[in-house]
Amino acid sequence: MLYKKRLMTPGPTEVPPTVLAEAAKPIMHHRTPQFRKILTEVVAGLKRVFKTENDILIYPAAGTGAMEAAVVNLCSPGDHILVASCGNFGNRWTDIAKAYGVQSEHYEVAWGTPVDPQEIQKRLAADPAIKAVFTTLSETSTGIESDIKTIAGIVAKTPAVLVVDAISGLGAIPMKTDEWKADVVVAGSQKGLMIPPGLAIVSISAKAWELANVSKCPKYYFSWAKAQKAMKAEALADTPYTPSISLILQLAEALRLIEAEGLEAIWDRHARLAQATREAMKALGLKLYAPQQASNAVTAIYVPENVDVSKLFKTVRDVYGITLATGQGVAKGKIFRIGHLGYADDFDVIATVAAVERALLEQNYVLQIGQGVAAAEKVLFGR
Ligand SMILES: Cc1ncc(COP(=O)(O)O)c(C=O)c1O
Repeated sequence: MLYKKRLMTPGPTEVPPTVLAEAAKPIMHHRTPQFRKILTEVVAGLKRVFKTENDILIYPAAGTGAMEAAVVNLCSPGDHILVASCGNFGNRWTDIAKAYGVQSEHYEVAWGTPVDPQEIQKRLAADPAIKAVFTTLSETSTGIESDIKTIAGIVAKTPAVLVVDAISGLGAIPMKTDEWKADVVVAGSQKGLMIPPGLAIVSISAKAWELANVSKCPKYYFSWAKAQKAMKAEALADTPYTPSISLILQLAEALRLIEAEGLEAIWDRHARLAQATREAMKALGLKLYAPQQASNAVTAIYVPENVDVSKLFKTVRDVYGITLATGQGVAKGKIFRIGHLGYADDFDVIATVAAVERALLEQNYVLQIGQGVAAAEKVLFGR
């Protein structure tokens, strides 16, 4: 039996056909007005998605590159920072800081629960030397959405800057950079932006530049100042090193699709798909890993007793063609995750729920076939 391949992971995500087609175009040289015009338009489009007037820089790198760039451009060895983490990717901030001799106060909550903005406020008050707070918009490892609006409101009242990892959240769930006063926001290409992996993007506020201008961590490729100089030297944007030309063309097309659908409509679509996924899993008698502040980008679900998660994952992928994600870190073996972000629609969710039902039945889990699909349809179709 042939089943279509579906990527229901929280990154990389599926790429729309017109975006895929851009990669097949001949390589144009990057030091040309033609390419630089496209890059300039891409930066303007990204500003609309980030909801910011702040500077935007684009690196050919994994998302972690933009995270490392944020640490090395904002900090000096010995600086105090606060990391507010609710999972694997939050913890990465502390790992990067340690690699550069930056003193990270690590505030980590139990996985499956969100960070508490009041705790961030308390810790900032207790250590006025903290120069930056690092946190995560959508914690992909647990399926949590942090309350960035409240956190940003707290940090904005202090001299510290707020750095948000929006790698899996941007373009899927609300991130209002300027309205909320998030100083540095990092994103990756392979999630809500609907293009292949390979671009790391960062937005930088004036407050963050003040810190960057005195930062002493070693840096070369990831120097914001170098990238900014090329970006701003002339009317058309430029990069200090060879950009990922094809990925920039793909991003230009993805941004056209985002504009056409509308950012708010995209957030609404993600909310519907997430709600349908959560209701379907609950209807199957499964328990959500993060019932509070659940992210609309990814849903994490406890593996029920007597179900072998690696077998479930392999059946859904190798028999039914749908790739899901398993658990990471302390959640390994306990959960599986369904990504419903980027180029995803009602029928991707319905197919995924149907495949999960089949894989559960194959392990003798008791359910009525269609029970999860019906719950998903109730959300998606309204009856
Ligand atoms: C929230 C979050 N942060 C950071 C990363 C790391 O991104 P990359 O693998 O592109 O370095 C990911 C990727 O899954 C993520 O979801």
